[in-house]
Amino acid sequence: MIDLVIFGATGDLAARKLFPALYELEAARYLPSEVRILGVGRKPWSNEEFIQHLRQSLQEFQEPLDGEVAERLLGRAAYHSMEYTPEGFRSLAEASADSSLFYLSLPPDAFPTIGVGLGQAGLSEQTRGFRRLIVEKPFGEDLQSALSLQKTLTQYWDESQILRIDHFLGKEAVQNILVFRFANSWLEPLWNARYIAQVQITAAESIGIEGRGAFYDKVGALRDMMQNHMMQLLTLSALEPPPRFEADLLSNEKVKALRSARPLSPEDIVRGQYQGYREEAGNPQSHTETFAALRLYLDNWRWKGVPFYLRTGKALSRKNTTIALQFRDPPTQLFADSSIDPGSGWVELELQPKEAMHLEVQVKTPGLQFASRPVTLTTPTGNGNRLELSAYATLMLDALKGERSLFIRFDEVEYAWRLLEPVLHTPCPTETYSVGSEGPGGQHYLMEPHHRWRPL
Ligand code: BG6
Repeated sequence: MIDLVIFGATGDLAARKLFPALYELEAARYLPSEVRILGVGRKPWSNEEFIQHLRQSLQEFQEPLDGEVAERLLGRAAYHSMEYTPEGFRSLAEASADSSLFYLSLPPDAFPTIGVGLGQAGLSEQTRGFRRLIVEKPFGEDLQSALSLQKTLTQYWDESQILRIDHFLGKEAVQNILVFRFANSWLEPLWNARYIAQVQITAAESIGIEGRGAFYDKVGALRDMMQNHMMQLLTLSALEPPPRFEADLLSNEKVKALRSARPLSPEDIVRGQYQGYREEAGNPQSHTETFAALRLYLDNWRWKGVPFYLRTGKALSRKNTTIALQFRDPPTQLFADSSIDPGSGWVELELQPKEAMHLEVQVKTPGLQFASRPVTLTTPTGNGNRLELSAYATLMLDALKGERSLFIRFDEVEYAWRLLEPVLHTPCPTETYSVGSEGPGGQHYLMEPHHRWRPL
């Protein structure tokens, strides 16, 4: 038997994301038959109560829901009620299988207690099976706390057993960045400072904080999105090709990219907060940013001098996650009268809401004149059918298999924190922006002359 032990099984993330992901795996018959789902929590629930909770969560968050698949999944579920004390962990050691995957679907301040508690109860030992620990983000709240969390966990867990999750890496469209870059030999030679003028990476959301005020107000956009999801998009866009597609080789290249970043200064960041956030978060004095834009440079051979602009925010005009690169202008303007717009010449990978690639090229304007106009070639990159797995389903399956390339190695976390450290603690004003807008006006001042943010 293999146990998927979910700490925080009675919580929000489990209900919204993990259970539907398990349902998907069950529906696709990807979940090995020996897998049991062992919910763990402090609530003194019985197995039946947990199963009922699981059923209700699926009814609320899984669409479409096939009753037969749901019942198959429920048939694997059990619950273990425990306090997070040495006795509690000992009781878990007795109740759980020799091969277990522990998922910490809990607030970050619980990670050390659980990691150590499991270790002390012998639950990180792999003498009779595998033991792995899935840790949710954010891993630490800054460099120091991340280093200290790592030190605590590695007293009992080997790096190869710790799976730091960043659900963006489970998205098909994010994995496509590497395929797009390294499986197209016409593109790779152009993907560098010689041909690229600027890179814009955007993760805009239209939703606000959705009742997560207590968590979000301590975290803000820099820790919630920038340090993890955005840094992953940055490294995947910028890294050198690894010699082989292997987890460690890929992580090496990501870390090299992060380490080549020029140190940030306060002029490289703009923070915003949407109107009404303070009331929603229940903190009238809050300076927490719900929007952050960064300008950074990677001082390496490939990217020297190319600005990477990153922005993420909530309550914006629409959900839009994209990586866009602008090609440099041609060396001479052959078509003097042409209407080549300085804002054109983009290649864009749209990750959300649609999965697509857009390539802007100039074609001749029909007519007697030799003028050009931009047209956009678009191709969907998803296959549009339901065989694709959601990010969490993909990652849970990989975790069960022990496949680590879509998880984050500690030095990736560490260097992402190192990069942000100079702007993380310095008090910095937040500019208010309207709900449903493109974000604070100040974001445009980050940019070099002739550069401007693409519309959301
Ligand atoms: C989560 C953040 O990691 O990612 C949320 O905590 C954010 O604040 C979410 O809304 C965005 O993920 P997705 O997959 O909806 O783009």
